[in-house]
Formats: sequence, C-alpha cells, structure tokens
Amino acid sequence: MPQNAFAGPHTAKKLEVVAGYLSSFVTVLKKQKFETIYFDAFAGTGEIPVKASDLPQLIGGEDRRHIVVGSVKRALEVRPTFDKYIFVEKSSKKAAALQKFVQTRYPALLSKVLVREMDASVALEEFIESTDWRRTRAVIFLDPFGSQIPFHTVERIGRKTKADLWYLFPSGLGVHRQISRNGTVRPEHAASLDRLLGGREWEDHLISVVPRDDLFGMSEERTKSCTADAATEYMIEKMKTCFDGQVLNEWLPLGSRGVHMYSLLFAWANRDPKAVLASKLARAVLKSNGRNNGWPK
Ligand SMILES: C[S@@+](CC[C@H](N)C(=O)[O-])C[C@H]1O[C@@H](n2cnc3c(N)ncnc32)[C@H](O)[C@@H]1O
Repeated sequence: MPQNAFAGPHTAKKLEVVAGYLSSFVTVLKKQKFETIYFDAFAGTGEIPVKASDLPQLIGGEDRRHIVVGSVKRALEVRPTFDKYIFVEKSSKKAAALQKFVQTRYPALLSKVLVREMDASVALEEFIESTDWRRTRAVIFLDPFGSQIPFHTVERIGRKTKADLWYLFPSGLGVHRQISRNGTVRPEHAASLDRLLGGREWEDHLISVVPRDDLFGMSEERTKSCTADAATEYMIEKMKTCFDGQVLNEWLPLGSRGVHMYSLLFAWANRDPKAVLASKLARAVLKSNGRNNGWPK
C-alpha cells in the first residue's frame, strides 16, 4: 500500500492550503470573462480514510468520522463554483467511486464535472493541447503518491498554459531517499530521478564530488549533499526555467510524523504582469497554513 493511502495531519494541511487558494481564485475571477477550470490530476474518491492513531491530531466535523475531506470535495464546495471540473483518476475502482460520489452528493454540479479514468500525465497533455488559453483560466493540482509526474509535463504546463499550479513534489520520498549517503544511486533510481527532474544535472547539485590525491593516485570522494530542502530548491530553479521565473520560493514541507517527504510548490504560468496576484494569494494561504502555524513545521 502506498505510504500515504491513509490521510494524516499533513494531508489535511496540504488540502487546506489548496482549498484556500481555490476560494481566492474564484473570488478574483468571478467578475472576469474567463472560463474557470479546476483540474485535479490525482483525484482519489472525494474522501480519504484516516489512521486511528492520527485522529487526535485532526480537528473538525468530518475528520472525526475517520475521514479527511479530499481535494475533489473541497473543490466542489468552493463558491462561486468553477465553470468546469476535470477529475483524473487512474484506478478504475476509484474513478467509479468518484463518479458515484459526485452523482449522489453534488447532483447540481454533475453537468460541470468530467471524471477521466486515465493516467494523469496523458490527461494533462490532452488538457493543455485542447484548451483555448486565451479564454480559460485554470488551477491544476498534482497530488501524486510519488514520482509519477515527469518533468516534461510540468514543463509543458509552464510553457503552454495560463494555469496556476499546485504540485506536491516528492522532495524527500522521490529524491532525497533515492541517493545513498556515499553519493551512489542505483540505476533504476537514477532513471526515476532523471524523469522526475528532467535530465541528469541533479548529480552536480545533489551529490558533491571532491578530488582526492592519495597513496593510489588521484581519486574522487562522492558524498550526498541532498536534503529534502535542497531537492526542493533544485526543483524550484528547474521549474523557473519553464515558468519564466514565476515559481514561489516558499513551499510547505509535508510528511507523516514530521519527516519531510513532500514539498507543496506553487507556480503560475500566466505571463500577464497582473497575474502576479496569484503568487500573492498563494503566499497568503501558505503563510496562514504553513511553517508558522504549528504542525507541520
Ligand atoms: C495522494 S492520492 C490523491 C488524493 C486526492 N487528491 C484527495 O485529496 O483525495 C493519489 C491518487 O492518485 C491515483 N493515481 C496514482 N497514480 C496515478 C496516475 N498515474 N494517474 C492518475 N491517478 C493516479 C491513486 O489511485 C490515488 O487515488
């Protein structure tokens, strides 16, 4: 079972940030002529079970029923509503449960909702290509368990859309943990890092190589210089190259039991100078839910 198939306090924190942003987004856009779309690439079923041991740390109505309200339900609760919701879920069982969830709990919004049972990156590519970005504004939420999103998909969002992006980047799980202390990386992990980070340059940034002149001649000493924070900073710099610098330098560190496994990142692809408002709204929700607000730090 993937490690976060159950929700914990970090899950609720992440979803509060994204939902807070969605509320600000629709409020700002309600008087504008754009079609608004919420695109949830790893949608789940609308609700996430909670481990009994995490219950005391979670507060609020539905959380007490061993369930954390998922991203889909939070998005459907935002008012005014989006013009369209695209929910992508690879598991056929979960996609069917999600369709039923929308039908029974949000029948009034059913005509605005498209549930797609497919791979997130494939669905994203189709969405990017088929959308008229002159008349559309969107929020894309990437909430994978691990390293499922190849860098080129993130790159395409930055170069081709006018969307705002929240990305749960697996900085600890997908990067830090893949590099051993002595700076070696198993070939299958290196291939996963190449895909996640878009090339092999991560080696120069996350592993330090010091030349050594010893009894046996010149050799080199490799050590890991990667932490989850360093991996996050590296990813932010990579993303800036395809979002024309429009990536927040702040992030929300997340993970079970306070271990930094993921970093929630924000970027905005609209080059209109007025779109800088997106970064201000994102910074505000991060600040009110983030580092200075107790767990997680
Ligand atoms: C972390 S959960 C997302 C939870 C959801 N955002 C929520 O708040 O309820 C990841 C979900 O993505 C689905 N998934 C895994 N790999 C996928 C892929 N390649 N494309 C689309 N969905 C995928 C899983 O079945 C799982 O439901």
